[in-house]
Amino acid sequence: MKVLLTGGAGFIGSHTAVRLLEKGHEVVIADNFVNSKPEAVNRIRKITGKDVKLYAIDVADRKKLETVFAENSIDAVIHFAGLKAVGESVRLPLLYYRNNLDSTFTLLETMKKYGCNKIIFSSSATVYGDPATVPITEDMPVGNCSNPYGKTKFMIENILEDAAHADPELSVVLLRYFNPIGAHKSGLLFEDPNGIPNNLMPYIVKVAAGKLDHLNVFGNDYPTPDGTGVRDYIHVTDLAAGHTAALDYVSEHSGVGIFNLGTGHGYSVLDVVNTFIKATGVNVPYVIAPRRPGDIAECYASPDKARRELGWEAKLSLEDMCRDSWNALLKNPNGLAG
Ligand code: WQD
Repeated sequence: MKVLLTGGAGFIGSHTAVRLLEKGHEVVIADNFVNSKPEAVNRIRKITGKDVKLYAIDVADRKKLETVFAENSIDAVIHFAGLKAVGESVRLPLLYYRNNLDSTFTLLETMKKYGCNKIIFSSSATVYGDPATVPITEDMPVGNCSNPYGKTKFMIENILEDAAHADPELSVVLLRYFNPIGAHKSGLLFEDPNGIPNNLMPYIVKVAAGKLDHLNVFGNDYPTPDGTGVRDYIHVTDLAAGHTAALDYVSEHSGVGIFNLGTGHGYSVLDVVNTFIKATGVNVPYVIAPRRPGDIAECYASPDKARRELGWEAKLSLEDMCRDSWNALLKNPNGLAG
């Protein structure tokens, strides 16, 4: 299939591009590089030995997006593009609503115009808000998101569901990611956040590299085994494989399929720190700090539905995730710039 990846130069998009190419699909990337670098696309080519067509465009730019569809016979779209920083979304809510919703509207309208009717959307476990119980199953309540970023994910899920209900030709898969970390085993693709990282693994890696002094562990008084927050960390390579499985699914099913992409295991912040130290032999100094506003105690997936209906499950361990994240930093001390 010829698959358009919006945001395909980003962390999850680039790993998914590799996986799709390895499976024999053709990949077209549309990315405005607001939070990614063109070098990622070169790295995708280097890993796979295959070419990728790249459009350096904003998906919300209708004219330019139409060019992509006019020049390529796109069979399906995986929609990764979007702003994703939680804290920034609280400061700049209109930017988040405008950007994430507008690009989705333009994409759906353009798909319709060009007869493309399969879409996989990058959603997030954040749509579950603070879950009443864990593990989280797909039928649990959604929508109680604490920030505009999460709300855009929930809103786009709704928009896609309504669009699919109104148009029996449209097939939709919503993938709710848990906490993607790790990097490509070659060390060529990895998460490359601008500035000081917000998320745990990129922060740990910078502390281990001596670029930041210590990790702040946000709270050790949660009702969890060691008091620190528990999450379902998933290797980005496993996550990428979830997308190729979803592509098979969206080709064979109509309507809307909703799947958690997680491992089903919850690890605490201290579990991650200790596993990182064990896997790499590098120390990660940390101090216990106050809770981060908006954080929840515990969040991990039930991966059963994805296993049953997509035939997919995560295979890589937390140790693999730590080792690969560190390996990528060692190989790219200055990030994707060189
Ligand atoms: C994990 C755990 C922190 C940093 C967020 C978004 C979500 C998603 C991924 C993005 C928590 C603790 C973290 C640090 C710490 N989407 N922590 N010190 O909050 O589960 O999810 O990122 O695209 O929508 O909400 O991930 O990696 O920020 O935090 O102690 O410096 O690590 O409190 O328990 P989170 P995270």
